[in-house]
Amino acid sequence: MKKIFAANWKLFKTPQETREFFAQFKELANKATGEVVFFPSAISLEAASESLKGTSIKFGAQNCYSQASGAFTGENSAQVVKALGGTYILIGHSERRKIFGEDDTQIAEKVAFVQGLGLTPMLCIGETLEEREATHTFRVLETQLMLGLAKADKSKPLVVAYEPVWAIGTGKVASPEQVAETHTDVHSILNKMGFGSVAILYGGSVKPDNAANLVKQAHVSGFLVGGASLEVKSFAEIASV
Ligand code: PGA
Repeated sequence: MKKIFAANWKLFKTPQETREFFAQFKELANKATGEVVFFPSAISLEAASESLKGTSIKFGAQNCYSQASGAFTGENSAQVVKALGGTYILIGHSERRKIFGEDDTQIAEKVAFVQGLGLTPMLCIGETLEEREATHTFRVLETQLMLGLAKADKSKPLVVAYEPVWAIGTGKVASPEQVAETHTDVHSILNKMGFGSVAILYGGSVKPDNAANLVKQAHVSGFLVGGASLEVKSFAEIASV
């Protein structure tokens, strides 16, 4: 399966900073060993789109609403992302779930809507520390996949990002054994659900010094990177493992 290295910029980088980043990154991009995808904040998407024209680097939005247009003040339109040349939408990131109260029903609508537009949803799932300590990880991930993909089209592109909530932005990366075990579980849940060959990315404190080992683990098809994707050098290093 082809590898994917995705950058989640969250609420960082102005349009100008976005252009500056890509001016440098494009020179290193040929070292990437898989597809590279950027998720800038919505207001910097147009700058990303202009900077990435004529390259094979992909981009998309960190969230969208489940309709293309209408009276939905403050939301992002996946159709606009598509018009800008974007091809991915991140859906159900743990910050969306926790801070903005997104639930699995809304997430399922978004996944189906994005697929219907011909874009690729990157669905984020992951357990909290309490859930892991209570040995509920498998059940939590299975529920998030079953509900989040309830309306998904099995014949259309889909990417899943496994991001343990306790590893996001904490510097506490999951161990290679935990990653291998959990990715194997996610792979088998997806298989049982009839989603054959879905790339499963790992996310949560991925850095240049742990990426090479993590990418070798079972059913790891790449990474979703937050903090370490904000710097050209560190993300380029991660994308070249
Ligand atoms: P992190 O974030 O790499 O800073 O832990 C990952 C994410 O939130 O997608």
